[in-house]
Amino acid sequence: MRHVISIGDFSRKDLDALLYDADKMLSYIRKGKVLHLMEGKIMGALFFEPSTRTRLSFEAAMHRLGGRVIGFAEPAATSLAKAETVADTVKTVAQYCDVIAMRSPFPGAAKLASEVSPVPIINGGDGAREHPTQTMLDLFTIKKELGKLDGLKVAMVGDLKYGRTVHSLCKAFTNYKNTEFIFVSPPGLRIPSQYKRGEYRETTKLELEDADVIYVTRIQKERFTDPTEYEKLKGVYRITPETLETLKKKAIVMHPLPRVDEIDWRCDSDPRCVYFKQAYYGVPTRMAIIRLALGGEKK
Ligand code: CP
Repeated sequence: MRHVISIGDFSRKDLDALLYDADKMLSYIRKGKVLHLMEGKIMGALFFEPSTRTRLSFEAAMHRLGGRVIGFAEPAATSLAKAETVADTVKTVAQYCDVIAMRSPFPGAAKLASEVSPVPIINGGDGAREHPTQTMLDLFTIKKELGKLDGLKVAMVGDLKYGRTVHSLCKAFTNYKNTEFIFVSPPGLRIPSQYKRGEYRETTKLELEDADVIYVTRIQKERFTDPTEYEKLKGVYRITPETLETLKKKAIVMHPLPRVDEIDWRCDSDPRCVYFKQAYYGVPTRMAIIRLALGGEKK
């Protein structure tokens, strides 16, 4: 059993093995092969915060592995509404399933769950702290699209203060050689100092001409305590077809999604804009993550 709480717990060797397994899972999906690796196993999907991609791709991943899923996406319909604690909810659901994928608005919630759970916990996002499984699928996407993870210039754009996907991805890149970061954000949403590693430059402008990867993020309304601050910052960056003209021919534009208005929908048909492919890669990557958490010997 292995919990998946922080991307910092994964070495390059661990990540290489995971991405290799995700690639195998992708080839099974493409061939329409039915897998029985998780037959008889149940995943609990506990989503204390809204989600489309993480929850549904975890569910699709478990179904494609031959397992089953229980869970909730609306905590108001559970005994949390009767003041049950998250810890007690996790301890209870762990009696019904073999692995738990969870998301919470509270930083550290997945770690706490791992301390009380008898089954593996997979962190599907804990507040503004981390989103390790998103990072695994982001790495998978970069490897598939650019063929490498070393020696890349990675631009992170948008809400770098609260963006948990950015935090986890910055940490993950410490495993790879010669990464250069370009951190593009308004002054109020700068990347926290603990994520600034190796070579980087910070700017408030969309200076993306030399980037290999442009990782765009949403300004997250739900993380602001002062709504007027959000109103001042929303819409600060917008990637348009004109922006794409300034990029390298082989650059890729990624986004963990959901997007609001930070990437013009007219960009979607440009082959460099891979954000929906990135969502597609979420299923094979999460199949590999479930196998990692539970072990997956063929029956
Ligand atoms: N990328 C991501 O975490 O999307 P959801 O919030 O829809 O799960």
